[in-house]
Amino acid sequence: MIYSIAIDGPAGSGKSTIAKKLAKELDFIYVDTGAMYRAIALWALENAPDITDEEYIASRLDEVDIGIDYIDGEQQVFLNGESVTDRLRLESTGDAASKVSKQVRVREKLVELQRRIAKKTSVIMDGRDIGTKVLPDAFLKIFMTASPDIRAKRRYDELVMKGKECDYDEILKGIKERDHADETRAVSPLKPADDAVMLDTSDMSEDEVAGRIMELFEEKKG
Ligand code: DC
Repeated sequence: MIYSIAIDGPAGSGKSTIAKKLAKELDFIYVDTGAMYRAIALWALENAPDITDEEYIASRLDEVDIGIDYIDGEQQVFLNGESVTDRLRLESTGDAASKVSKQVRVREKLVELQRRIAKKTSVIMDGRDIGTKVLPDAFLKIFMTASPDIRAKRRYDELVMKGKECDYDEILKGIKERDHADETRAVSPLKPADDAVMLDTSDMSEDEVAGRIMELFEEKKG
């Protein structure tokens, strides 16, 4: 039996941490779809005169090969054969990803790739449109939220831990802007699927969230 668990939610809600943890426990593959949008964004930053020029990017998409591989359970992303995993999490790549992820043809290309992966193997896939669009028949759908302040605080703590200088108010502002862009875009906006289980993680620890999803999964399996 091939299972799929869809986890959607806004930036910073804790999706990837939880999805990685559960994938290990269940021995599923963790598919980070945001990383795929980030990889196309890198390509666009290097190759498009204007990354918001949807027509131009669409006309060259056939030249963009996004490869996904798993090494020790960690997703590696290749852009035209070159590993770009280390460059994906940069703030500038995230900003660009939010611009290219609005584009219909970019989404079509990546949704197809995501569906192909989920057909072959059990996955935990996280993103914005997994339950609504990519895997409408997912075995379990979770919509994870947390208040903007909590998400900004988590991001702030993460950056401080890495020794990076940052400003809490700037981070909060960025999170609110990203939410607005994701929720109001015309194609596949961020919204819960009708059959998604809502999970507000504001006052939950990582272990509690992972435990709750595990419980839901086991209940469904029966
Ligand atoms: O989750 P993330 O920050 O890595 O996502 C990067 C951008 O890609 C973000 O603006 C939302 C967008 N995205 C999307 O539109 N659909 C997905 N399935 C995943 C990410």
